[in-house]
Amino acid sequence: MDSFLIRGGTRLKGKIEISGSKNSALPILAACLLANGKTTLKGVPRLSDIDSMAKLIGELGCHVFRHEPGGAPQPGADGQPPMPALNGPLDIEVTDEKQCEARYDIVKTMRASICVLGPLLAKRGRAVVSIPGGCAIGDRPVDLHVRGLQKLGAEFRTENGNIIGEVRGRLKGCRMYLGGAQGPTVLGTINVMCAAALADGETVLVGAACEPEVVDCAELLIKMGANIKGHGTPEIRIEGVDQLVGAEHRIIPDRIECGTFIIAAAITNGELELKNCNLDHLIAVVDRLDEVGVKIERQNGTIFVSSSRRLNPVEMTTQPFPGFPTDLQAQLMALLCLGDGMSVVTERIFPDRFLHVGELNRMGARVRKEGPTAIIQGVKEMQGASVMASDLRASAALVLAGMVARGTTRIDRVYHIDRGYEKIEQKLAAVGADIQRVNEK
Ligand code: EPU
Repeated sequence: MDSFLIRGGTRLKGKIEISGSKNSALPILAACLLANGKTTLKGVPRLSDIDSMAKLIGELGCHVFRHEPGGAPQPGADGQPPMPALNGPLDIEVTDEKQCEARYDIVKTMRASICVLGPLLAKRGRAVVSIPGGCAIGDRPVDLHVRGLQKLGAEFRTENGNIIGEVRGRLKGCRMYLGGAQGPTVLGTINVMCAAALADGETVLVGAACEPEVVDCAELLIKMGANIKGHGTPEIRIEGVDQLVGAEHRIIPDRIECGTFIIAAAITNGELELKNCNLDHLIAVVDRLDEVGVKIERQNGTIFVSSSRRLNPVEMTTQPFPGFPTDLQAQLMALLCLGDGMSVVTERIFPDRFLHVGELNRMGARVRKEGPTAIIQGVKEMQGASVMASDLRASAALVLAGMVARGTTRIDRVYHIDRGYEKIEQKLAAVGADIQRVNEK
């Protein structure tokens, strides 16, 4: 198992290219099951979760082919190692529609596997998907996915840990409310939207998620021939069509990776130029960081980040888009640990998503958890320690803390980071971080 060794205290300076969005690419790969003919996706990041989804749709009869990378590696700043070359596009084509089962072996490694449910039911009339278990950030039920597809006419039963869905004839469009107790569901909205694209008649999804990843998937479906309106708002209208055909699409930039590197610049008191960003997707993050004292300027698709030495304390609550994303809560908390006063962070999407608190405290932070809220008393300095990565975003927070802590931080179990951050140590090393991947048996 790999670990990271990080020596804190270096200022980041230079350029980083933001990868394509993991959370957009995953459901989009599943959506490729809906189309006849080849789909070409550009900007799909190289991540272990993407490999898992490619394997899953491969088992479901898709031929998946990755082209060679485009362009040469770009030089790093001031004699630092080079930045990785850009990824080549991915071709996906359904060649066999017999297999309808998503096995537990894959589903247990990646919850986004549930995204094949809607496309399989709509296109093949049957789906067997292993029920995803809980994960480090909470229970994460899939009841809203199932309820939405039921309203379109699918019938479900559970057997031996699997959800078995069947459709007699064709799914039938209807008007439905898709929200749950914690608000809208991102992947649930995408799952039902994908299914409705091939249903008979009109579907109206009320209480739909507005996240950029939902919009990106809708844009691909539209290129495939779907008739969708209102994506990006809480009411999506989908007029079903008879068939969808392969298309070409570029995945949106990863707003969470971008937000993480903005915070990396701020926490190291550095200066970063981030390329391939869409700041409109980070409006609430920019709002909070502005109050902290982080300077963020945009020029087309590039943003420039710098920060003053003094970090103001802030209050922040995670919310569905356009609110502050839960996927950046841990990273912001790492920054606020060094704030000049007391900050308050409340988690509304996954109220148990606080595994990073204990590890940050081991590094000298002063964070106290009270239910879904964390109270952070800023400290002057954090110290390097041996810490454990628990989930993807919590691990990113530890990398951030490690870059500013005094001494060396060792982060074990970095396979969590590899699920969602493409070549993070290479990207950070290229702008001056002292970070190394080690594999000690
Ligand atoms: N929920 C239900 N029932 C459902 C589905 C969701 O009660 O059937 C609840 C969840 O428990 C949660 C809330 O609804 O309280 C929102 O969850 P959502 O369904 O929106 O989450 P998701 O679609 O499963 C995606 C991202 C997560 C991100 C969340 C919230 C992917 C692959 N995952 O998950 O990303 O945190 O939206 O924005 O897109 C990550 O990248 O680290 C990550 C966890």
